[in-house]
Amino acid sequence: MKKIVTACILSGLVTGAYPAIMTAKTLSGQEIFTRNCSVCHSVAPPPKSAPPIMPIANRYHQKFQTKNEGVQHLVAYLKSPNKDKAVDPQAIARFGLMPAQTLPDLELRAVAEWVWNQYNSNTGMGRGGRGMGKAQGMGRGCEVNQ
Ligand code: HEC
Repeated sequence: MKKIVTACILSGLVTGAYPAIMTAKTLSGQEIFTRNCSVCHSVAPPPKSAPPIMPIANRYHQKFQTKNEGVQHLVAYLKSPNKDKAVDPQAIARFGLMPAQTLPDLELRAVAEWVWNQYNSNTGMGRGGRGMGKAQGMGRGCEVNQ
């Protein structure tokens, strides 16, 4: 039983289809997002009072080669948002500058990793919403209860 579960989790990591699992070992980035960020940010369009996270994550993936670089930049931005550092300066013109986020470093890092993982490599963000179907995805080929 244990083996099956591990195999399923690993296959999730390999395909990159289950980003939530990758941050689950630290504080849950998704929970931090829900508590601290979702008041302004939706995950996918339409926007609330800030740009949605998925297109932001896509920009980060275009701009940064490695997750580490992207996450570092993101953490720095959350601590002190500023026009010169923004990946999308037009968002500032449209929504105004984001207020600095005063969270512990660990939580900033966890939420930054979660944001990075919202990248949807299919880019057709609406197409089946692969990045959002985590619960469904786990069921496919991972019938742990059988
Ligand atoms: C009070 C509203 C508000 C809250 C709360 C908020 N944001 Fe933002 N955020 C914005 C706005 C507005 C922008 C667009 C302007 C800008 O880039 O500063 C933005 C931009 C961003 C960007 C793009 C930065 C870049 O490099 O251009 C990221 C990433 C981001 N937010 C993540 C987060 C995360 C993660 C949290 C929670 C820890 C959070 N935001 C909380 C309003 C908010």
